[in-house]
Amino acid sequence: MNDQNKARLEFWNERAALGLAAGSNDMGLKRLEIENICKHLRGCYKILDAGCGNGITAINVLKKLPSAKISAFDYSPQMVEEVIKLREEEGILDDRLEVTKGDLLAPPFENRAYDAIYTERSLINLNSPEEQMLSIAKLATKLKPGGKLIICESFVEGLAEINSFRVPAGLPKIESPWHNTYLSLDWVTKVFPDYLKLNEVDNFSSTYYFLSRVVNAWIAQNNGEEPSYDSPINNLSFSLPCIGTCAQTKTVIFSKFQQN
Ligand SMILES: C[S@@+](CC[C@H](N)C(=O)[O-])C[C@H]1O[C@@H](n2cnc3c(N)ncnc32)[C@H](O)[C@@H]1O
Repeated sequence: MNDQNKARLEFWNERAALGLAAGSNDMGLKRLEIENICKHLRGCYKILDAGCGNGITAINVLKKLPSAKISAFDYSPQMVEEVIKLREEEGILDDRLEVTKGDLLAPPFENRAYDAIYTERSLINLNSPEEQMLSIAKLATKLKPGGKLIICESFVEGLAEINSFRVPAGLPKIESPWHNTYLSLDWVTKVFPDYLKLNEVDNFSSTYYFLSRVVNAWIAQNNGEEPSYDSPINNLSFSLPCIGTCAQTKTVIFSKFQQN
């Protein structure tokens, strides 16, 4: 493992016990992601969570979809331990949420077939677009024919669009974090395995990003304050429809072709 990969694994091990904030400090985004993933999983029964973190999303999905069962994996041993702990605390039976240590580049749970597989900002932790596409291809082999691949990830195009509003407003550009390689929407929606069909790009977080990263950030800067994640302006986005495409986090949905 090279130094960057070691540092990234250490980073995630250290965040494992942060509860709802383990995967991101941005609770508004986390709320929208869970709602969006649940929406796209409706009607799915056997589900794989790839890069599950401490299992907060999987547990929320199981509460919303009472007949679903989830297999989950993460490469951080601490994250896997947290899933086991939270599963017990939440009274979720282990036959509804099974978890193991595993890598996005060599996904575990061999010889299983899923109705749906989702990632939630896990692929952005791989080192290159090529690794991300390799992982997508390997995950997709685990789908049943007709199954859904739900990629909820951060995208360079979304970040660039947010910055295109920030700069004229006198705000500094936001850079992606050191441990992330944001996906390219242009690439992901063109170069995908031929046994997949692209169904939809869901810009579910666009209003949230516009209000939090442009409007709220501008007001905070004018007041000489740090922007707060839970400002009323950010929360307003929960009751508004999506505006445009300035969603840093987008959900891309593929389905696997039915066999002939
Ligand atoms: C941003 S967190 C998201 C966690 C979870 N999906 C969520 O949203 O709460 C990224 C997760 O990806 C995991 N991860 C990073 N690289 C991985 C890899 N190569 N294989 C499996 N998991 C990985 C990290 O350990 C971390 O738990």
